[in-house]
Amino acid sequence: MNHNRRNFMLLSLKATLFYIGVRTGIPLQSVLAQSNEFSARLPVPGKSGLFGLLPYQNKLSFKTMDVPNLLPANKSQMLAYSTSENNEKFYNPILILNKGQHFELALENGLNEPTIIHWHGVDASWKQTGHPSYAIKPGERYNYSFEITNRAGTYWYHPHPHMITARQSYLGLASFFIVKDEEEIRFSREMDFVLGKTDIPVLIQDKKFNSAGDLDYSPTKDELMMGYIGNRILVNGAEKPTMDVATRAYRFRLLNGSTARIYNLAFLSDGSKLPFHIVGNDGGLLPSPQQVEEVFLAPGERVDISLNLALFSAGQSIYLQNMPYDPMHNEMSGMAEMGSMGNMNGMEHMSEMAGMGSKSGSHDSGSNNALEEDASFPILRLFVKNRISYSRQLPQNLSVIPSLSREALKEHQITLSMQHMGGWTINGLTFSMNDAPIVVPKRGKEIWVINNASASMPHPMHLHGYFYRVRERKNSPDQVKQRAIDGSGRIPTDMGYKDTVLVWPGESVAVEIDFSKPNYPGEQLFLFHCHNLEHEDQGMMLNVRVE
Ligand code: C2O
Ligand code: CU
Ligand code: CU
Repeated sequence: MNHNRRNFMLLSLKATLFYIGVRTGIPLQSVLAQSNEFSARLPVPGKSGLFGLLPYQNKLSFKTMDVPNLLPANKSQMLAYSTSENNEKFYNPILILNKGQHFELALENGLNEPTIIHWHGVDASWKQTGHPSYAIKPGERYNYSFEITNRAGTYWYHPHPHMITARQSYLGLASFFIVKDEEEIRFSREMDFVLGKTDIPVLIQDKKFNSAGDLDYSPTKDELMMGYIGNRILVNGAEKPTMDVATRAYRFRLLNGSTARIYNLAFLSDGSKLPFHIVGNDGGLLPSPQQVEEVFLAPGERVDISLNLALFSAGQSIYLQNMPYDPMHNEMSGMAEMGSMGNMNGMEHMSEMAGMGSKSGSHDSGSNNALEEDASFPILRLFVKNRISYSRQLPQNLSVIPSLSREALKEHQITLSMQHMGGWTINGLTFSMNDAPIVVPKRGKEIWVINNASASMPHPMHLHGYFYRVRERKNSPDQVKQRAIDGSGRIPTDMGYKDTVLVWPGESVAVEIDFSKPNYPGEQLFLFHCHNLEHEDQGMMLNVRVE
């Protein structure tokens, strides 16, 4: 078809849609969106460009900048870490490293505000892993240099400047940091998983756009409290994308890079859920695959899954879908108690808090095209293009993980709750750059029991520098309890190592942390915070001094 004719057809299609829009009162924008559903290609990480795969060789230099026409969803501008390697341009490259490699990177701040990179889940001392006190000014540089000691896993990176982490991440700064080791290479070989082909990093983020079509990060006071929930879901930057697949197993490394939205993910075909296997999580491979039909994924968490499509026929579609759940916005359920405690300062504050919404998913009452957290919506389509023969089966043993400690360990109680004036706290405190309210000795293990108040909302709690081993979940809501796989109330994603653990209202999650591994030199000041990034920026974060 020649160009003019195609343009004409596009124009007349738009005119028709506009006519439909006028006739039905549905805004043109949403009619168009529907006609385009799942026609965009999933940006599958390639050899360059946005989310290009970049096997680490020599020192890299990243520059944070605003890049026009980059976001796949609508070619709007976004913030990105840009670099050139082998004469190729990369934006937010997916870094691929081997355990034992030495990693060096120079960050240049091309933004007009402070920034600093945090290597989320990557073992590095506090000065190397992005503490807000090390944020650099516009035009400044920061040098990272450390050894990769992590086991293989799906880690990631994003900014961590004081109070603007959410906005910078939202506007585009985030990507994967994939570590490989012997165990992982063996597994990939057994399953014939190849990064970028059958092993796909999948970054899921919800966004809002303004009328000019640009990413819009403008939380209200209530949204800072509840989390900023977008109404469009992007996968590797594309909206409702599709990916051609063959009849074989695929590995998806799902990362929730949203600031606040929690997903309950499933794969649907003809409306029914497909079983799939969780093979890894935040800290790499699990001891053995866990078969599930749904998985919760909170901001900051990763889940590495294997989906076998061997029994499908060409022409079928499978959808990665958000399934309904209770988002548990229960922050208002304690109003009566709080009132009776005499700490509520009059009606003004009452009404302000009432505006926060007490029920599930009342985030976006002002806008009529809200996409609630508990809604059922498709995120990504897999389209079975061709039949091939594939008969590999998941190995039963994926990795060797030491068992939990049997000795008595020191127990630390941690409480998550809402301040009377609004705002989330950890142990009643909010972030202060120069205080370290939690002090732990570098030698040995501790148990942290993270208790979320019942008049609360779910908080994904993340610790820098060390991994958690989940020991027990208590008082879990039914939707979590139903997924328990052992007598300790643990769910499939609790196996293995975690760096971000979702704690539901009323729930207590006990985690074991080994503060002797890695053995960082000297005193360390790591962060413990909620990975709802609005919460983090508002101060739901504490320094942890490890000495
Ligand atoms: Cu991914 Cu301190 O965060
Ligand atoms: Cu982190
Ligand atoms: Cu939180």
